Amino acid sequence: MTTVSIVQIGVGGVGRELVGLLLGARAALESRYGFRLEYLALADSTGALASGSPLADERILAAMRAKAAGVSLAASPAGRAIQNWDELVPDGPCIVVDVTAASGHEVLLADVVSGGARVVLANKKPLSATWSSFVELTFSGATRYEATAGAGLPVISTLQGLLDSGDQMVKIEAAMSGTLGYLCGELEAGVPLSTAVRAAHQMGYTEPDPRDDLSGADVARKALIVARTCGLEWELANIPAEPWFPPELAGVSRDAFMARLEELDAPFAARVAAAKAQNGALRYVATITPEGASVSLRVVPSDHPLASLRGPDNLFSFTTTRYAERPLVVRGPGAGQAVTAAGVLADIVATAREM
Ligand SMILES: NC(=O)c1ccc[n+]([C@@H]2O[C@H](COP(=O)([O-])OP(=O)(O)OC[C@H]3O[C@@H](n4cnc5c(N)ncnc54)[C@H](OP(=O)(O)O)[C@@H]3O)[C@@H](O)[C@H]2O)c1
Repeated sequence: MTTVSIVQIGVGGVGRELVGLLLGARAALESRYGFRLEYLALADSTGALASGSPLADERILAAMRAKAAGVSLAASPAGRAIQNWDELVPDGPCIVVDVTAASGHEVLLADVVSGGARVVLANKKPLSATWSSFVELTFSGATRYEATAGAGLPVISTLQGLLDSGDQMVKIEAAMSGTLGYLCGELEAGVPLSTAVRAAHQMGYTEPDPRDDLSGADVARKALIVARTCGLEWELANIPAEPWFPPELAGVSRDAFMARLEELDAPFAARVAAAKAQNGALRYVATITPEGASVSLRVVPSDHPLASLRGPDNLFSFTTTRYAERPLVVRGPGAGQAVTAAGVLADIVATAREM
């Protein structure tokens, strides 16, 4: 039986979900494909679980239970401190899985790719850093990154399939944020923005500081990855994102921002009313064409696929030379630990099959 070694960086919500899925799917994958996925190492921001040989399932699961209870890998009985996760990557072939949200991994990941390893990403930051690092990571086909846009939805693979078969992108329109989609739905139902943001915050739909979602920066990163997949040599500065709050609320503390949310209620109620008066719906839309991109709150006509979106679902509409009259649409839940982990596992399995 061929063994495929996995080094996983990040054991937060998505990372722990992935561990459970991968161990649960392993027997079926063995009989279907004749390879065995083995964890060689798992790392968090403090340390790692690693011994230089495949880790026993019981050891991994005990560390994941401890991690869920707040015990870091460095402090767990079988764990140890490390300087950096790249010391865990073996010389031979393996798959490095980055399920962190950390910045600055692109250099180390490019190093492991040039050393012959393959990479799977849920972390958007390595692919939304410079264009040259995107090229280093992806142009040899060494990196899969389906979960960076649309979580488990087949967005990147659909786009790559279109382009690889000779199609050309004309326009991509997408609602790429479950959090902001939820807020649009609440606004449409007449809920004041302040109430909707506080509810989303309490339910864990937003980042700890909701401005990380409301700034549009996360959507701009996803849009950049989609645009770069089309071969557009853009940087993040090429994708201006409209924030949901004015500049004077950008510099205040998180608590002060939350306390001043009511200031946004009247302007947003007016925008929703204006959208309804035009028989349209207010949506936070990323638009990408070969000429440029934008990420903004837009009024979409009531017969547009984006208008029918409800709650935190994502929708990606691809207008291409082949799909010119009616776009090819990918739609469904675009956030959540389970669907994201499933998207990452599908990338791991596809990579292992190639290996
Ligand atoms: N949740 C979703 O619905 C969703 C959807 C699509 C994509 N994603 C992406 O998936 C990734 C993971 O999300 P998550 O919700 O699981 O995040 P999370 O719960 O915050 O977990 C992040 C993990 O990364 C670890 N980490 C951070 N910096 C590190 C470093 N320098 N070296 C090693 N480990 C490091 C953290 O370590 P500690 O535990 O020590 O802090 C933690 O275990 C993110 O990039 C996110 O954008 C998430």
